[in-house]
Amino acid sequence: MESKLLNILPMNSEINSDGHLIVGGCDLVELSEKHGTPLYVYDESTIRSMAELFTKEFTERYSNSRILYASKAYMNPSIAKLSIEHGLGIDIVSGGELAVAASVDFPADDIFFHGNNKSHSEVYEAIDYGVGQFVADSFYEIDMINELASNSNKVQKIMLRLSPGIDGHTHKKTTTGILDTKFGFSIETGDARKAIEYVLTCENLDLTGIHFHLGSPIFEMEPYDLAIRGVIEFLNPLIKNGFNMRDFSPGGGFAVGYTYEKSPPEIGEYAETIVKALTESCEEFDIPSPRLLVEPGRSIVARAGIAIYKVGAIKEIPGLRKYISVDGGMGDNIRPALYDSQYEVIVANKLNEKHTEEVRVVGKYCETGDILASSADLPVCDSGDLIVLPASGAYGMSMSSNYNLNPRPAVVMVSDGKSKVIRRRETYTDLMRCDEFE
Ligand code: LLP
Repeated sequence: MESKLLNILPMNSEINSDGHLIVGGCDLVELSEKHGTPLYVYDESTIRSMAELFTKEFTERYSNSRILYASKAYMNPSIAKLSIEHGLGIDIVSGGELAVAASVDFPADDIFFHGNNKSHSEVYEAIDYGVGQFVADSFYEIDMINELASNSNKVQKIMLRLSPGIDGHTHKKTTTGILDTKFGFSIETGDARKAIEYVLTCENLDLTGIHFHLGSPIFEMEPYDLAIRGVIEFLNPLIKNGFNMRDFSPGGGFAVGYTYEKSPPEIGEYAETIVKALTESCEEFDIPSPRLLVEPGRSIVARAGIAIYKVGAIKEIPGLRKYISVDGGMGDNIRPALYDSQYEVIVANKLNEKHTEEVRVVGKYCETGDILASSADLPVCDSGDLIVLPASGAYGMSMSSNYNLNPRPAVVMVSDGKSKVIRRRETYTDLMRCDEFE
């Protein structure tokens, strides 16, 4: 198989003699016959390898590092269990993500609760579960956590999310480190300093550290470097004044390979940049080295997951283009419609055939913008062929909807030639589960 394709498919993917794509030892043609389409397939060994790679690249350079999986990329009890097995903590942003973590007895200490507007009941549930840390995003939330911790006679560990005023040069809908963002306490406006000083006066809060997240995906090193150095410089007088910073997190946002043209940096390159910036700035200001918390989401699961669709209608507009319609689309992957995200497209049952046509791959939803790939070079496709979008494991299923009342796809985990359903396909009954009718 061509290396450019191998780089974006789950690790150890192969093509068999019939031209079928094999992932985790399973033939995707057989999997789609068995489980139907659209289908999401996750390769367990790729998730495990990415978890190990992150741990290795960071702890080798900075032993006091901890990797937290940003579960919004894709959360499911099976994925949460893999995180536990690999010693990853977890970043959650809702009561729902907490409930899934709790369903597999995720160690409470290893849970970090993020989000810009946690509700009263979410904070209550999290304190009750004993979550290790909240990452507070507003004065409103600081007061709420302090009050609820006090009601439970607890001193709750929290970190504060800052907005460092650094542009991560990513899509405007996923950039979060600039001044004009809903996330975090701005250093520039003075809120960050006020928030730190304020939390230090709250009796039921223990301020353990500082967090920021610049956005995602970030292909450059410089934003991490600038932000870490800038934040440590800002923190220096506060630390000298008694703030005991034990944790420091530059968030996640590490890029992955979606297309042949744009390769992501190595994880080691991110680790090198982050560790160097942190170590050097702590040395410069003579600050004790904190624990380093890193929060990859996309980069743990994106490559592991692929989406399989079946081709249905094919429409040719002479002299203009050919539309290939598949049985999923924006309901299971909103990313192209929302961010103009690009994906490669392959035909899982025709991998030995030459690519002779340029087509547009569209979904089945009643929206013109329901385009999965606006221009894809493919072999001649027939109805019934299997279209695969590699690198679909992050933010596809997790942002999925029931638009047009389509049931969400099944999700299968493959490993060593075996497959198991980790989420069954939704049924029409599921679609009406919450509706009240006589
Ligand atoms: N930490 C925090 C505080 C975050 O908000 C996020 C992502 C992450 C870590 C993980 O970022 P990652 O390593 O996955 O890039 N729906 C968008 C991405 C939104 C990310 C939201 N926050 C997409 O499909 O590209």
